[in-house]
Amino acid sequence: PIVYSAPTDHTYINLPSVMSQGVVMETCTCTAPVNMAVIKYWGKRHKDLVLPLNSSISATLDQKQLRTKTTVAISPSFEDDRLWLNGIEERVDTVRIQNLLAELRQRSIEQQSCPQEWFSWKLHVCSENNFPTAAGLASSAAGYACLAFSLAVLYRLRGDISDIARRGSGSACRSMYGGFVIWDKGTKADGTDSIARQLYPETHWPELHILILVVSDQKKHTCSTAGMEVTVETSSLMKQRIRLVPDRIKEMTSAIEKRDFHKFAELTMKDSNQLHAVCLDSYPPISYMTDVSRQIVHMVHEYNKLKGQNKVAYTFDAGPNACLYLIEEDVAEVVSLVTHFFPPIGPTEEFYTGLPTGSVALDQFQ
Ligand code: DP6
Repeated sequence: PIVYSAPTDHTYINLPSVMSQGVVMETCTCTAPVNMAVIKYWGKRHKDLVLPLNSSISATLDQKQLRTKTTVAISPSFEDDRLWLNGIEERVDTVRIQNLLAELRQRSIEQQSCPQEWFSWKLHVCSENNFPTAAGLASSAAGYACLAFSLAVLYRLRGDISDIARRGSGSACRSMYGGFVIWDKGTKADGTDSIARQLYPETHWPELHILILVVSDQKKHTCSTAGMEVTVETSSLMKQRIRLVPDRIKEMTSAIEKRDFHKFAELTMKDSNQLHAVCLDSYPPISYMTDVSRQIVHMVHEYNKLKGQNKVAYTFDAGPNACLYLIEEDVAEVVSLVTHFFPPIGPTEEFYTGLPTGSVALDQFQ
């Protein structure tokens, strides 16, 4: 487990204009954080514009632990647009990347934010995560937020760009702000009101911590995009969820405003459970949580029962890894509980920063 403290906003690193050996190049490096939803986004009303069926709320994590770092460069000497993710070249001709770039360039033209010839220059992008990619740890959120943000800095864009990040991956729009963030689903057909905004800054609830329990660093079997499509098409429970979420958003906003952890935890756990219930109600069913995930759920409920109130809240995205929300004063006890019941059996693989992964012993928790 890794302890997370107060989240931060983006870090702007540099924007040099490089000219060496006759090569003209504009380059910029930025980092962006992961966010962890407490009211989940699951289901789209428009696929290409990435418009959600419901609003969602998340907390942005401290970039010291989980972050994406992206360098973007444009140059008249580049022959093609190219992208490397964690050192491996990936395709740039995907709908998401092309939509994101088109929106960014369009906005830049409207704002006349940079020299016009830049639009004919090709782009090179290098991005790396310091945590497992596509393992349900919101890597696409940080990744696309970082891509949108570094390009926006490069092209000198002004104003909110959360809707540009949204084109890459819905949850990415929430990583554009620190603290507690809401992504309003919006009602307009063109999606211009489907943007993220900060509900409360990171200073609002500094005692709130997050523990990430890495159950598996393997890529998920069903990506979120495909999973939510099946759910929207086939789950009748999903229709009920869409009716319920607006009230939950109000309740969650109020719990955060009052720093009412008991209520915050209840809503967080219920919403995570509902996400995974609609996944199971999909046909064919989608199951992201594993036996270890369910053991963690059980442990949290037993612990809260023992304490007579909610002291810890779990939440799971599209993967088996648990994210625990808790108050700072309870971190030490919960970490010792977790390591007692789920002792790491040694790192199985080194990540970029050497974050501990490792599986957990299943049979120790009844
Ligand atoms: C379970 O943002 O990855 O993490 O928009 O299709 O790229 P796309 O989906 P994505 O979905 C994330 C879903 C979630 C819940 C959440 O973060 O709200």
